[in-house]
Amino acid sequence: MIIDLAALPHDFLWGTATSAYQIEGAVAEDGRSPSIWDTFSHTPGRIAGDDHGDMACDHYHRWREDIALMRQLGTNAYRLSVAWPRVVPGGGDGQVNEKGLAFYDELVDGLLAAGITPSVTLYHWDLPQALQDRGGWPERETAEHFAAYAAVVAERLGDRVTHWATLNEPLCSAWIGHLEGTMAPGLTDLTAAVRASYHLLLGHGLATQAIRAAAPAAEVGIVNNLSTVHAATDRPEDEAAARRMDGHTNRWWLDPIHGRGFPSDMREVYGVELPERATDLATIATPLDWLGLNYYFPATVTDDPTGPAPHARQIHRAGVPRTGMDWEIDASGLETLLLRLTHDYGARRLHVTENGSAYPDVVRPDGTVDDPERQEYLIQHLAACASAARKGAPLAGYFAWSLLDNFEWAYGYEKRFGLVHVDYGTQARTIKGSGYRYAEVIRAHGAGAERAA
Ligand code: FCB
Repeated sequence: MIIDLAALPHDFLWGTATSAYQIEGAVAEDGRSPSIWDTFSHTPGRIAGDDHGDMACDHYHRWREDIALMRQLGTNAYRLSVAWPRVVPGGGDGQVNEKGLAFYDELVDGLLAAGITPSVTLYHWDLPQALQDRGGWPERETAEHFAAYAAVVAERLGDRVTHWATLNEPLCSAWIGHLEGTMAPGLTDLTAAVRASYHLLLGHGLATQAIRAAAPAAEVGIVNNLSTVHAATDRPEDEAAARRMDGHTNRWWLDPIHGRGFPSDMREVYGVELPERATDLATIATPLDWLGLNYYFPATVTDDPTGPAPHARQIHRAGVPRTGMDWEIDASGLETLLLRLTHDYGARRLHVTENGSAYPDVVRPDGTVDDPERQEYLIQHLAACASAARKGAPLAGYFAWSLLDNFEWAYGYEKRFGLVHVDYGTQARTIKGSGYRYAEVIRAHGAGAERAA
């Protein structure tokens, strides 16, 4: 497959992405406190194989080696997340942990020295357990504490970091963490979930303002995971289910940050009163510099009147290939969503902040890792990006998920998303075929080539 690179700007950010809890390890070092993910992963039966992030990829100690890998891939950007429990271990008591800040300070310097632009996400799901003990995201104070923590990080790194994201995938924190219960904190409570969704977005707005106050040059965005949604059949019930799923997955997260409020059809579906105060909607809609899109798979849904909100069940389409996560592969969904953000929401700058696939990779006796399926997934999705850019999407960056195989939440270490293989016994890193493939595309673009194969 050929990718037409001509529409991608010269200063395009070619990156990889990771998140703190998934790679850092060192969970009890230098003053870090437990997060909800430490608690959740140490609760028997929550994670495949009862895995946890205690060691993960040991990135806390091996970050120099990991920056060297980024250089080998030829990437010029890296999306990382800061662990709130390293920086403000008590969550909301205002006590800042200098050692936690120092880690990110050095990491940022190391990236910049390597010519790699850091893109910093402030919340990738690792809420300090101390705040969960006081109610977590269903409580308003968590949003306020989040903004205070964001200000601390922005003050420290804002002289060198310009790309900031407040939240990663608030959908997962709210819906999977509080409604489906398969992610931390593991609740199945619709009222808690809706309240969490509200306070996550409020926290996003407050943090956006706090980051800008602390670092005036900051360019602030949010990272949402969106899906294209299709009805399984043309039955009116399935079409209504598809509208609800679109509301649940896409509009609930996009409308409020664009000043449109929370979608009224979904308010009715949830039937939960929002904890609204007078100026909240304006705070939530604080204008952003860019939008991040995480895209993995499309959703095909059927009506499910007795299931949990939004009463729509996802099914698999026959004959559509799937990754090792059982996620359908459909690169056209990425293009569709980039164009939807451009046309329906007037996005001025877009980043694909995550996109990738898991397969059961192995290191062969000759020391290489061949992953043709991941290579194909990568190339198809890069082609979709280029096509969206050609049609007018203001796409400024692509961050492959992930730099490294890592702790894949409830799936533990079983699912490997990395462009770089990690042997968890020895912590040896091996660049996979897909990593070399990505490097070729980046090189071709940098050399001014119009196309890459
Ligand atoms: C996204 C998460 C990321 C990773 C990928 C596979 O939902 O943001 O941490 O787990 O999925």
